[in-house]
Amino acid sequence: MAEKLKVQNLTKIFGRRIQKAQELVKAGKSKAEILNSVGATVGVNNASFTVNDGEIFVIMGLSGSGKSTIIRMINRLIEPTSGKIFIDGQDLTKLEKKELLNVRRKKMSMVFQNFALFPNRTILENTAYGLEIQGVDKDVRHQKAHEALELVGLHGYDDQFPTQLSGGMQQRVGLARALANNSEILLMDEAFSALDPLNRKDMQDELLDLQENLHKTIVFISHDLNEALRIGDRIMIMKDGEVVQIGTPEEILTQPADEYVERFIEDVDRTKVLTASNVMIRPNTVNIDKDGPRITMRRMLENEISSVYVVNNQRKFIGIVDASHVMDLIRKKITKLDSVVQRDVPTTSPDTPITTIMEEISETSIPFAVVDDQNHLLGIIIRGAVLGAISGNEVNVDE
Ligand SMILES: Nc1ncnc2c1ncn2[C@@H]1O[C@H](COP(=O)(O)OP(=O)(O)OP(=O)(O)O)[C@@H](O)[C@H]1O
Ligand SMILES: [Mg+2]
Repeated sequence: MAEKLKVQNLTKIFGRRIQKAQELVKAGKSKAEILNSVGATVGVNNASFTVNDGEIFVIMGLSGSGKSTIIRMINRLIEPTSGKIFIDGQDLTKLEKKELLNVRRKKMSMVFQNFALFPNRTILENTAYGLEIQGVDKDVRHQKAHEALELVGLHGYDDQFPTQLSGGMQQRVGLARALANNSEILLMDEAFSALDPLNRKDMQDELLDLQENLHKTIVFISHDLNEALRIGDRIMIMKDGEVVQIGTPEEILTQPADEYVERFIEDVDRTKVLTASNVMIRPNTVNIDKDGPRITMRRMLENEISSVYVVNNQRKFIGIVDASHVMDLIRKKITKLDSVVQRDVPTTSPDTPITTIMEEISETSIPFAVVDDQNHLLGIIIRGAVLGAISGNEVNVDE
């Protein structure tokens, strides 16, 4: 596989007495020792790695371990203290300012967590922003932005404004903005961290789907080992600015380099920490206050399912209806669902550990409904999803 990005002995020291701090780094002093003795913060300490063309490379580590600093040095928002960065074999640290700016704009795009959309611009204009500052003609940039919005599933939103979109959709706009640039490298710093679990899973799927066709080189920072294992081709684990281990998800899980990595893995010892909210999927619902049998039947046909979850206007959970009962209502020309809703559906709270309800899940044929303390329907748990999540496989929604 071709090397796209190569980072060599990259170091960043923040603060004063950088020279002295560097000497201490070379002498093998720890981040804490250096902070104590010279008052400088070691952001990144002698990091080396390569990212292959078309690879999703996940950087993981606790808060303050240097993940963002690495990504910011790659796109040169931060000047490295020492070390080299190559893109397609070209040494970025040797480039003149103007050339560098060019490489940065053409070859890389960045997606941030909680990135800000301009409230007074349409979604299309927001998406085209990166191209606009590159001086791309309006028609061209709007066309490209439009295509990028289609790619991330935001068909029809071109002329809406940010406040009209949910948080998850706004994050998609961030991704679309990066894709519109058509750059070869995507740098994603905790891009999905602000999303709720379902939206987050959707975005991970979206990214994996996109990647099948686009083959970008993606450097993806995450706090979450589950996310890293799910989307990463390889994972790099950092501690106190240093690279602790680089490996495939399998290697990280089976051959942790040291105790620090082991602790990360323990955290995902799957059955121990998986909660209902980790494994729930998005249910198909109808609204009992608004939808009648015909709409309900349509919903089932559209989604190729034989039952749907019933909520009310406040999205509170009511029960389940199945197709044969709904057909009955249609035949009898009854326009309300109430008489056929099955109400004794098992429910659970979002933070219930899966282990505690495992047995019931495997014994009940109806998926569990996950509800909050006000009985709002958050998701449902199907058997296949639980097994998939525990074994680390894709959640199979069609069970
Ligand atoms: N501009 C700065 N000035 C001084 N110190 C900084 C600066 N940016 C980062 N640091 C320090 O560098 C270290 C690495 O920070 P960095 O933001 O890269 O961590 P991170 O792994 O991205 O953490 P998080 O998961 O919280 O985002 C930390 O000790 C941080 O305090
Ligand atoms: Mg960070």
